[in-house]
Amino acid sequence: MLLQLLSVLWESLSLPEVLLFLASFLLVADYLKRRRPKGFPPGPMALPVLGNMFSVDFRKLHLSMQQIAEKYGNVFSMQFGSEWVVLVNGLPLVKEVLVHQGENFLDRPPFPLTNEITGKFGLLASNGLSWKQQRRFALSTLRNFGLGKKSLEERIQDESRYLADAIEDEKGQPFDPHFQINNAVSNIICSIVFGDRFDYHDHRFQKLLQILDQSVVLQGSIWSQVYDTFPTIMKYLPGPHQTIFKNWEQLKAFVKEMIEKHKEDWNPSETRDFIDAYLNEMAKDDAASSFHEQNLLFSTLDLFFAGTETTSTTLRWALLYMALNPEIQARVHSEIDSEIGQSRQPRMEDRDSMPYTNAVVHEVQRISNIVPLNVPRMATNDTELAGFRVPKGTILLPNLTSILFDKDEWETPDVFNPNHFLENGQFRKKEAFMPFSAGKRACLGEQLAKMELFLFFTALLQKFTFQAPKDVSLSLDYRMGLTLSPQPYRICAHPR
Ligand code: HEM
Ligand SMILES: *[C@@H]1O[C@H](CO)[C@@H](O)[C@H](O)[C@H]1NC(C)=O
Ligand SMILES: *[C@@H]1O[C@H](CO)[C@@H](O)[C@H](O)[C@H]1NC(C)=O
Repeated sequence: MLLQLLSVLWESLSLPEVLLFLASFLLVADYLKRRRPKGFPPGPMALPVLGNMFSVDFRKLHLSMQQIAEKYGNVFSMQFGSEWVVLVNGLPLVKEVLVHQGENFLDRPPFPLTNEITGKFGLLASNGLSWKQQRRFALSTLRNFGLGKKSLEERIQDESRYLADAIEDEKGQPFDPHFQINNAVSNIICSIVFGDRFDYHDHRFQKLLQILDQSVVLQGSIWSQVYDTFPTIMKYLPGPHQTIFKNWEQLKAFVKEMIEKHKEDWNPSETRDFIDAYLNEMAKDDAASSFHEQNLLFSTLDLFFAGTETTSTTLRWALLYMALNPEIQARVHSEIDSEIGQSRQPRMEDRDSMPYTNAVVHEVQRISNIVPLNVPRMATNDTELAGFRVPKGTILLPNLTSILFDKDEWETPDVFNPNHFLENGQFRKKEAFMPFSAGKRACLGEQLAKMELFLFFTALLQKFTFQAPKDVSLSLDYRMGLTLSPQPYRICAHPR
């Protein structure tokens, strides 16, 4: 009866009326969706359909919500497309999310773009039992290879020698160190996962590194937000997101090829690298269910990707800060001269007797802030944060910038100042030093990265003085991507 009435009414409407009716229906539905859940953290009004997407500047996302933060406090919410995102600022609350309530915020959100690339496999984007098993295996395998026959330390020393030789070939002339550093750093994780390094003149590998770099930029741009908001439409439209997919297909093909080679000459009694160890694990009768082909591919890809981009970006910042602060560079040089000299390579043991160099490396990591808003998390359970309700499935961004630049934690947050990590000439740890995040889902490669940073940095400063090219002033402008990285620059490396 009612249905009949409705259909009569429907048929009597003109096309404009139908459209008007539909439009108001959609707007009301949209409005209801845009209402904050009860007890949810406050925040600015969201626009229909787009949410708060255009309230922020994506080229400096990590700084752009200052005014909103000032108005609403340390926990506030915004809507991107149809997803609610809670922003968390300041040491106490970020620690609450990552550490004290770590269990409640362990998951990664299933963003459409990431889903398209890795599905729910691997280390970075996976959740639940699969994530737990993959992470435990990756951590223990990395540890084992550190203690293997040719220790990790030795591999980094060998690679620093190749890198220093390549830089010496530039003969003190201006050059862009980007892809040499990228290649050197990548070779360390490559030797762990693939059992091999790649020559700096290997065109195919250099091309892969460039593809990786391009994806890092594109994925941090507004395009990934647009894709995540309208995935079903965007999938069929041209645009930079198609380049992202194409790039990942090439990276996947490369890793697949490596895996196939390993399968061909696999020998269970001789484990050469991560892939061999994984194949052994898969062959076990009681292998946990998550050790399969897909996870092998994506765990390997995640290690390759995360192990290349971050550390290499940090080293590129380090050279810039040295060239811009010659008196600090001179103090590093003199510490190297008195503790190591020129006749041998730096080793990890040296770090304890080199507080100044150690402090400089930490300060580079603090101020370069390469993962400014952390990697997004998602609430695993309904919970409470600072008195607000946070329902299961809410996306959270624990703002690392707010900690690394906190005025209460650092004397001169905006100035490069190694004294932040020194006390009476000794190295001092700081709780607010959190570039790797914290808690159970913190960076998996923290130990490896710290070793690489100290050894590569010290080896380069042992051999060279870094300076701006004549009549050029170097800039600290950044490029926003998945990481904050320096704008391309040219620098001179004068042999010492
Ligand atoms: C300067 C160097 C690095 C920085 C600043 C850095 C930073 C980070 C951050 C902030 C996260 C997110 C953690 C969270 O959600 O709480 C992360 C995750 C991760 N990092 Fe790093 N990272 C670095 C180097 C590395 C290296 C060398 C590797 C290679 C082994 C690596 C592998 C990973 C992986 C696999 C994850 C995902 C962990 C998970 O979801 O369980 N990282 N990193
Ligand atoms: C993150 O922290 C920085 C520094 O305190 C602040 O300027 C920025 O607005 C914060 N961003 C977000 C998204 O909360
Ligand atoms: C949160 O949920 C997970 C499972 O989804 C459960 O194992 C865990 O105990 C819960 N934590 C709390 C604090 O309720």
